[in-house]
Amino acid sequence: MAAVMDALNSTSSIVPASTIEATIEAVNTGFLGTIAESTSTFGIIVTLLAAAVVYDQLSYWRQKGELVGPAWKIPFIGPFLESVWPKFEKYHAKWMSGPLSCVSVFHKFVIIASTRDMARQIFNAPAYVKPCVVDVATKLLRPENWVFLDGKAHVEYRKGLNGLFTRQALAAYLPGQQEVYEEYFEAFHDVSEKARESQSGVGPDKGGVKFVYYLREIMCAVSCRTFVGHYMSHAQVKEVADDYYNITAALELVNFPIILPFTKTWYGKKASDKVLEMFASCAAKSRIRMKQPGAKAECIMDRWIVQMMESDRYLERIARGETVPAEEKPQHVLRQFTDFEISMTIFTFLFASQDATSSACSWLLQLTADRPEILQKVREEGKNIMGDRYGKYGAIKIDDVEKLVYTRAVIKETLRYRPPVIMVPYMVKKDYPVTPTYTAPKGSMLIPSTWLSLHDPEAYGTFGGPDEFAPERWTEGDAEDKGKNWLVFGTGPHYCLGQQYAVMNLMLMLHLLSANYDWHHHITPQSEEIRVFATIFPMDDLFLSFTKRDAAAA
Ligand code: HEM
Repeated sequence: MAAVMDALNSTSSIVPASTIEATIEAVNTGFLGTIAESTSTFGIIVTLLAAAVVYDQLSYWRQKGELVGPAWKIPFIGPFLESVWPKFEKYHAKWMSGPLSCVSVFHKFVIIASTRDMARQIFNAPAYVKPCVVDVATKLLRPENWVFLDGKAHVEYRKGLNGLFTRQALAAYLPGQQEVYEEYFEAFHDVSEKARESQSGVGPDKGGVKFVYYLREIMCAVSCRTFVGHYMSHAQVKEVADDYYNITAALELVNFPIILPFTKTWYGKKASDKVLEMFASCAAKSRIRMKQPGAKAECIMDRWIVQMMESDRYLERIARGETVPAEEKPQHVLRQFTDFEISMTIFTFLFASQDATSSACSWLLQLTADRPEILQKVREEGKNIMGDRYGKYGAIKIDDVEKLVYTRAVIKETLRYRPPVIMVPYMVKKDYPVTPTYTAPKGSMLIPSTWLSLHDPEAYGTFGGPDEFAPERWTEGDAEDKGKNWLVFGTGPHYCLGQQYAVMNLMLMLHLLSANYDWHHHITPQSEEIRVFATIFPMDDLFLSFTKRDAAAA
């Protein structure tokens, strides 16, 4: 036991590996002797517990090696309680502490990669790492879900999904998105109007309503319209938006690993089962509709079904021995997917997009409300490009969106300044020599962070520096050339599948909203503070108030 005490008394954060090995050996052997000497059950329990605590600490030291991190681990749970209410400042301090730092929560050893180059290295190391999400994710998304595929199987599956996000596909989704925006903007206005009535005497820039919740709903509604078209009712969309909160809560980075009744993970599982069922029923409806002559694909599900039908016809011709001319071969030859497989995949789209787009949209509205000169430039650009069609729902086509250069810059700057996804957890598949002197152990969690890369003074030093919100850096400066720093959507084999769609969708929203509405932000002392809830949000939940404006007259 002497070695154990030595180790416990040590204040150094780095304990020599030989000492740790010897100590673990001592725990394993000396410990049974100690049990035998104990006379009472209580004594045995205390001894077992003490040995377990020591073992837990030693394992931590062994995995930690030279990494920056707490010298001591709270027995078993580590900083679990702290991570239940994660503080952005704590994460930031961690990133600043070194390119690689660590913590251990329960049995999980977590390594955080904070710098641009370290983060990029992890994103691009599929031989050693795979996306991890959290333990409970396999239960919610189902273990057979494509997002858990690895290596070649993942690449192949993903190729089959590319056809759902081509330019032509994005163009087809635009009318549906505009329909949803028109309807929800009106609702934003009504909510604001009611609040103004009850807060009479309070100016539009004061009071207001916490809008983060409504923004989550609108983003869920627009995603659902893009993913499953009109196959879901308004009430169902609302249900999904409400349920989705439980799913996010269940999938937080740190949560109790076992699904116990009435816990967050339990509610999350119930919600995800319901959503999976709804999407499967949408797939069945799409299958029927797309078989009708002249049916047009309006959503991702329709396009997927059409691609399967085309592939089927093509494969039948081949099977009959026909020589099919190259131009008649479908761009993406797909196998047949069941309704439930389609549902699981669409669920991953919702899962990947819902929090990130809600976060982006919240910051976007806050940042632009606080900077009227930027909003003015967005409006001028919109009016120049759209002319008489400015502000009309349904009028904007993909060619128009592509011409909104300044609007795009505002979106890109929002995503840089407040990146929705600040960390992307990966799992180490086999011992990974991350640096010449440190090897991440198999089974540990390795988390590249995007923040420092996107706030790198070397890359974004102009226009007031990285902590200044300056869309002009994308139009007049050299931000576009700093592709290596642009980690908003990750990089490597798992980079975001929906990134073009996400940017275009946010552009569309800003364009239409700014044409038809003014919005006023009631700034509070917490507006600039960052709440971490899977992604990031303004701490005060964003007090906004919407008033109508006449696009034609402006
Ligand atoms: C502002 C909005 C969004 C942000 C910031 C964002 C960010 C990210 C990030 C950081 C990753 C991990 C990349 C990596 O591991 O290298 C990711 C993956 C993914 N995203 Fe997004 N995303 C957004 C919107 C969307 C949307 C709208 C969709 C779908 C329509 C989507 C679908 C996906 C999928 C399917 C993956 C996993 C890809 C794979 O494992 O191969 N995302 N996203």
